[in-house]
Amino acid sequence: MQLRLLLLLAFMVGFGINAVLASSDYAGSEACGNCHPAKLESWAESGHHSSLVDVDGEAPLYPYNYHSGDPNVPNPPIVGDVLYAWSDIDYIIGGYYRSAVFVDHEGQIISGGEDDLTAWNIWDAEWKPYHANDYAQDDCYQCHVTGIEDGETVSWAEDGVGCEACHGPDS
Ligand code: HEC
Ligand code: HEC
Ligand code: HEC
Repeated sequence: MQLRLLLLLAFMVGFGINAVLASSDYAGSEACGNCHPAKLESWAESGHHSSLVDVDGEAPLYPYNYHSGDPNVPNPPIVGDVLYAWSDIDYIIGGYYRSAVFVDHEGQIISGGEDDLTAWNIWDAEWKPYHANDYAQDDCYQCHVTGIEDGETVSWAEDGVGCEACHGPDS
């Protein structure tokens, strides 16, 4: 009955409620880890965990860095004259193995022009160009999050590739 009501609401309200439905189907990796602690630990040190890092107004720590374990993230890039601040950044994609790119509040990866260095290269510990002048990059979430819902806006249940991305929701 309750489910029916929810579904009905979903039709009435449209895509807006998808996020609620989607996330409620997923327990989240931490919940799986209550009974699978060793799995949680090894997963937390994998790139799956780091594939999307939430930024909340200040410098985050990378969940894990394959090479050094160094959790520090360099400050966001400079594009032309614009010095991005942490408050301009929604997410970092990557940061585990080879590189990290920065996503703004519009969901766009900061890529800049020919002369801009916008991707942090972990191996060389330096900034590199990333798809200069190419902003058609909104498909990244398909593989970098868990429980994605495609609607007018994209939403998902968990940042990064959680347990349920592979094992299915609440499995
Ligand atoms: C309340 C404890 C508990 C929670 C929470 C839990 N599991 Fe399990 N899980 C178990 C137990 C116990 C087994 C072993 C059961 C068996 O082999 O029949 C198991 C088995 C598994 C297996 C192996 C199944 C197989 O067929 O061999 C997978 C995969 C798994 N769990 C994934 C998950 C995922 C993903 C989550 C989070 C959505 C999760 N578990 C949450 C207790 C739990
Ligand atoms: C089809 C699935 C898929 C899509 C779509 C995808 N990625 Fe990935 N991405 C991966 C996989 C798998 C890896 C890990 C393997 C690797 O590093 O090549 C990865 C790794 C990365 C890394 C390096 C992570 C690290 O810690 O070093 C970055 C950065 C990245 N992707 C950015 C993006 C961006 C930006 C987009 C959208 C333009 C995107 N990805 C779209 C699957 C995908
Ligand atoms: C990238 C995909 C992926 C992710 C992410 C992932 N798993 Fe798995 N998991 C697998 C695969 C593949 C197997 C192998 C099945 C086998 O060996 O038969 C497996 C096996 C398991 C098993 C049973 C076999 C064993 O090795 O004990 C459990 C339990 C399990 N995973 C739990 C988890 C939990 C909990 C998480 C999150 C903390 C997680 N997995 C994240 C893909 C994944």
